[in-house]
Amino acid sequence: MNEYRIAVYPGDGIGIDVIAEAVKVLRATEQAHSIKLQLTEFNWGHRYWREIGKVVPDDFLDVLKPFDAIFLGAIGDPRNLPDHITLVPLITIRQTFDQYVCLRPAVLLPGVTTPLANKKPGDIDIVVVRENSEGEYVDVGGMFKPTQADEVSLQTAVHTRKGVERILRYSFELAQTRRKHLTMATKSNAFKYGMVMWDRVLTEVAADYPDVRYDKCHIDALSMNFVRCPEVYDVVVGSNLFGDILSDLGGAIVGSLGLAPSANIRPDRKYPSLFEPVHGSAPDIAGKGIANPIAAIRSAAMMLDFLGEHEAAHSIEAAVIANLSAGLVRTPDLGGHSTTVDIGDDIASRISSTTH
Ligand code: NAD
Ligand code: IPM
Ligand code: MN
Repeated sequence: MNEYRIAVYPGDGIGIDVIAEAVKVLRATEQAHSIKLQLTEFNWGHRYWREIGKVVPDDFLDVLKPFDAIFLGAIGDPRNLPDHITLVPLITIRQTFDQYVCLRPAVLLPGVTTPLANKKPGDIDIVVVRENSEGEYVDVGGMFKPTQADEVSLQTAVHTRKGVERILRYSFELAQTRRKHLTMATKSNAFKYGMVMWDRVLTEVAADYPDVRYDKCHIDALSMNFVRCPEVYDVVVGSNLFGDILSDLGGAIVGSLGLAPSANIRPDRKYPSLFEPVHGSAPDIAGKGIANPIAAIRSAAMMLDFLGEHEAAHSIEAAVIANLSAGLVRTPDLGGHSTTVDIGDDIASRISSTTH
């Protein structure tokens, strides 16, 4: 029996609720597929800060290193702690463990209504590949005379050839396994250093993948096209910030951010990869028991797939699709009246019943 050690970091707000349901589904999957998951939960985030005065322990990276994967809910408690403090550990994990690929699929699933007119399941099947290790998210900058009337702040983006080339190669290789079409988000009409380099490296790297059709599109027009004609996109790669923005938009056009999973991957597996829903801690619905746990559940499926448990991952996706197609048990973001726990129970029961 294959055994995996998973660090579970539910975080804050709805992160705690959706992870509980995803763990329920993982436990059902474990039984049905003869795998063993050793789950170790950490109460980091706002709860830890109340107890210890820090968001995570100082040695949190050493604590996480030995695990096979990290499963995260959502971090952020903006009413009590500034986001740029609470979110540092997440960005540090991605960067220090060099999880340079962030995969964020946006697929219109059966049984789900998109806010876009005349689009049906099958019409939207995009993978946003987000550069996850550098770009606009590097901690390079500073403040001069903070809070003074004449204060100045500098925020610098760093794009390296190594970083751009490896994410483009990953994206071309992914496109080869799909519909063989790659689109790169750019903004080289305004960012005349970083994005001009992205454009140039795209042309160079593309020469090694003649079977993949490729194009680039300025991020403003690309955002518009996600709404206007999402069916033309297959693999869409972008810098850290562009990928962040496109992936929330991707969630919205396929019916709800509450359905959108993600994987932060270190391809050579030297350090653990991290799996989390695209959404945040949703303070507007936290504590109400109505968050959609499907994004977290599908992130758990991406984790099992990455760990090599393809059948188990597939059975979670199949159970999610069965829940959505039946349309009986759904949270308010999808137009229903069910609770977070109801969805977890329904999907977990579908795993047991489809595999026994
Ligand atoms: P958000 O993703 O938390 O919420 C945006 C909107 O989507 C809200 O209206 C929310 O109710 C809705 N929503 C999100 N997830 C949902 C779900 N599962 N089911 C139903 N509706 C859902 O974004 P925000 O409000 O900008 O951020 C809130 C906090 O989360 C902030 O502290 C932010 O920094 C943090 N955040 C964390 C992560 C992360 O941990 N990876 C990601 C995004 C935002
Ligand atoms: C995400 C989030 C994070 C990001 C924030 C919370 C730092 O929005 O995972 O998409 O921007 O990467
Ligand atoms: Mn985001």
